[in-house]
Amino acid sequence: MSGFLIKGGTPLEGEVEISGAKNAVLPVLAATVLGAGKISLTRVPNLSDVKVMRDVLINLGSNVIWDKDRMLVDTSHLNSCQIPEELMSQMRASIFLMGPLLARYGKVEIYQPGGCSIGPRPIDLHLKGLEALGAEFEQKHGVLSGQANRLKGAEINLDFPSVGATENIMMAAVRAEGKTVISNAAKEPEIINLQNFLNSMGAKISGAGTDEIKIKGVKQLEAVEYEIIPDRIEASTFLVAGAISQGEIFIKDIIPEHMEAVLSKLVETGTEIRIGKDWVKVSGVTNYQGIDLQTIPYPGFPTDVQPQFMTLLCLAEGTSLIKENIFENRLRHAEELRRMGAEIKIEGNTAIVKSKDKLSGARVEAMDLRAGAALVLAGIVAEGDTVVEKIYHIDRGYENFEHKLTKLGANIVRTKDSKEAIKAEG
Ligand code: EPZ
Repeated sequence: MSGFLIKGGTPLEGEVEISGAKNAVLPVLAATVLGAGKISLTRVPNLSDVKVMRDVLINLGSNVIWDKDRMLVDTSHLNSCQIPEELMSQMRASIFLMGPLLARYGKVEIYQPGGCSIGPRPIDLHLKGLEALGAEFEQKHGVLSGQANRLKGAEINLDFPSVGATENIMMAAVRAEGKTVISNAAKEPEIINLQNFLNSMGAKISGAGTDEIKIKGVKQLEAVEYEIIPDRIEASTFLVAGAISQGEIFIKDIIPEHMEAVLSKLVETGTEIRIGKDWVKVSGVTNYQGIDLQTIPYPGFPTDVQPQFMTLLCLAEGTSLIKENIFENRLRHAEELRRMGAEIKIEGNTAIVKSKDKLSGARVEAMDLRAGAALVLAGIVAEGDTVVEKIYHIDRGYENFEHKLTKLGANIVRTKDSKEAIKAEG
């Protein structure tokens, strides 16, 4: 079982390079199916989720050349509209192929994605939006088949500003006949990134970043070159690492506006933050304060940084309340933190985090990629040794995590490498 062995107690100091955003590159890779030709992407992060999405594209008949952070995707000759189960089970983000395959071929066949450790993860909003555009779905023996003779623009209101549903509907609508309006759309930076990518291919989309997105269908999309935006969640994770280890980390080549809620919550704890045009510097302080936070859709505090903050607040002065509003079951890292001496009580979707003056190293288990990152941060500040197991979760969303942390002074090594089954998740 591969894991991280961490010796705690070293403040993290120095500069860290942030990779391209996992949650931006996955929908963009799915969107390459919409246009025939060679699409060149840069700042592509080397993550296991990206490897799976590459394999999905190859399975559909694309030709993919991937060299460091550059990826060339040629979707001129697709020959399938099926996402096989063994790939679907590795990464639920394969559902992003529904919109593009329906738009290009009028057909799609995927294995019904299961839930994961953070919640049941239904896709009803995706299906409702795609059906509004004219798609019909049938579910048999766990296979979800969709078809659409011709997608037609529609007015779609999302019951919840779902990131994935917004992206899937956008991608289907770009080649639908006529105009589509998505209201109560998700406003994450990754949605704006997808709009910019599609518009660079010749799509006609406006309003991404607001709760109303307008799309005028076009017949043809061209191949382009495109750079993926930096990963605001990875950057936020390193900000917390600097704060909790009471070190000083300089994070460059990022977009601070994408992390406003995280930055303001860090300042609220008393952590020192300096913000530049494309950089942020975090300096940890002793006796930082506990705070209350709740996760809400962007631009609110992101659910993907909640586990890392739970670790931070274990060692804050005073009691903190953390309310998880987005996913039904995303507080389970509290169990693992308790094994390291944290004092956390769960009441419904709220964690009550009491102040402790230290954490102690233990053997703990990552349950999803952000919980895994939170446990690594705990190990970095704990007394003694920590082993974080099931780090295949972390490899899904963090590129060279242990190398970046080692460069900052952390004492962390990857134990025996073993090919781990990659479990479907975020
Ligand atoms: C995206 O997941 C991200 N994944 C998640 O990141 C992130 O946590 C989430 O958005 C929220 O920001 C990718 O972009 C690949 P949602 P997604 O649809 O699209 C419910 C990470 O750690 N819902 O906005 O699946 C759903 O159950 C991962 O990088 C429905 O009920 O998130 C959840 O409670 C984890 N029906 C809420 O909406 C639907 O059809 C938010 O889900 C769709 C969603």
